[in-house]
Amino acid sequence: MSDHPLDPVRIALIGAGSRGLGAYGAHVLRRPDLAQIVAVADPLGERLTMAGHLHAVPPTHLYPSWQTMLDAEPAFDAVIIATPDRAHLAPALATIERAGGISMLLEKPICPTEEETERLAAAADEAGADVTVAHVLRYTAFFARIRELLDRGVIGQLLTIRHTEHIGYWHFAHSYVRGNWRRLDEASPMLLAKACHDLDILRWLAGAPCAEISSFGALSHFTAANAPEGSTARCDEGCRVERSCPYSAQRIYLETLSPAPAWPHDVVSADTSPAGLARALHEGPYGRCVYRCDNDVADHQVVALRFTNGVDATLNVSAFTRETTRTVHLMGSHGEITGDFYANEITVSDFRNADTRTSRLTLVTEGYHGGGDDGLMVDFLNRVRERRRNGRVEAARTALAESLDSHRMAFAAEHSRASGETVRLAA
Ligand SMILES: NC(=O)c1ccc[n+]([C@@H]2O[C@H](COP(=O)([O-])OP(=O)(O)OC[C@H]3O[C@@H](n4cnc5c(N)ncnc54)[C@H](O)[C@@H]3O)[C@@H](O)[C@H]2O)c1
Repeated sequence: MSDHPLDPVRIALIGAGSRGLGAYGAHVLRRPDLAQIVAVADPLGERLTMAGHLHAVPPTHLYPSWQTMLDAEPAFDAVIIATPDRAHLAPALATIERAGGISMLLEKPICPTEEETERLAAAADEAGADVTVAHVLRYTAFFARIRELLDRGVIGQLLTIRHTEHIGYWHFAHSYVRGNWRRLDEASPMLLAKACHDLDILRWLAGAPCAEISSFGALSHFTAANAPEGSTARCDEGCRVERSCPYSAQRIYLETLSPAPAWPHDVVSADTSPAGLARALHEGPYGRCVYRCDNDVADHQVVALRFTNGVDATLNVSAFTRETTRTVHLMGSHGEITGDFYANEITVSDFRNADTRTSRLTLVTEGYHGGGDDGLMVDFLNRVRERRRNGRVEAARTALAESLDSHRMAFAAEHSRASGETVRLAA
């Protein structure tokens, strides 16, 4: 640990990709007074070069693997693990083993399987490691305001929650049909990858662990059986329906979305010029026909949940939405709350007023995930500094121990989806 409480937190970054550099690295660049990236591990040379360039990390502290980084023992106060889903467990276990009660920010999902998740949780618990899971929604002004309204009893006793994750048709095609989260054996179930955030928020808003869960859902649309007549393996290979297909890669990346270089274009190609993107769509995975990919994760799923305090909830996760947002409806004994996450609007109705008055709150937020990425980093860095001052710190809002619940819920829902049974979670 750095000696002076006001020194910037020294971060060792494992995984310098979209999240590692794009979300957390970007925050550090905005707040050099709070933190500094001092060591980076990533097997991709260009990622290391970029990290070194952006954060002025000397070549001696750029490592081709987390093993070489940990072996070299660079001085750091905290670790951020932002590797792909299947590469969370090994670096997290090794960091805990070598650095003991270290502060770690771990990307969600904790791990892609139940066994790995429980193994990591047990190791962190035993070592007293301070692990924060990147469940960014709890750090947004939107969900924090809803939590506060519930705490103030504005709608009386909370009884039911209806929550919908609108993934967005193009976002789903990008990440879950053509992209990194399309296959179970390479990533994790769609419910875990995309909606562990929503399960975590439901658990937070309900204010109790989940007791029972059941789920339905499937991969129904993005299959070879639905390939239109005249379609081709790639959208730019003379596909006869390309102009009328909403999932056309050319339409999505070159016409519909805001111009490059922002996400998701930078995932499609490092060269985000029109020519660079066209080349990547012609050669790479993001130019494939959505009906002829090697994807196997569900494209829609519903989950019914009962919490131990009697609150009931439903979660609806779907690829088939125009907007990319989350909407929520909380029904209480004396009122209701509705909200649209990306519109940043919350409506409160109080049945006690004769006219059922509705207040509309408009919240101002910045950055990705409705301000959640920045909120998470500020909280994480402040907690590392607090630990440096006092030798101890309270558990994070998204500590591993509580974040486990959302993952147990996701695994149970997957079991229910496969078996058709309602699953009871251990008390
Ligand atoms: N919190 C959120 O809302 C949120 C949003 C998107 C993604 N994620 C999660 O963040 C994680 C990273 O996703 P991403 O979009 O940044 O992916 P990415 O592919 O852009 O970045 C991953 C990086 O890790 C590197 N890497 C791979 N194996 C490694 C290893 N063994 N050691 C060190 N580095 C390694 C890759 O080279 C790459 O640079 C995933 O688990 C993903 O599910 C979370």
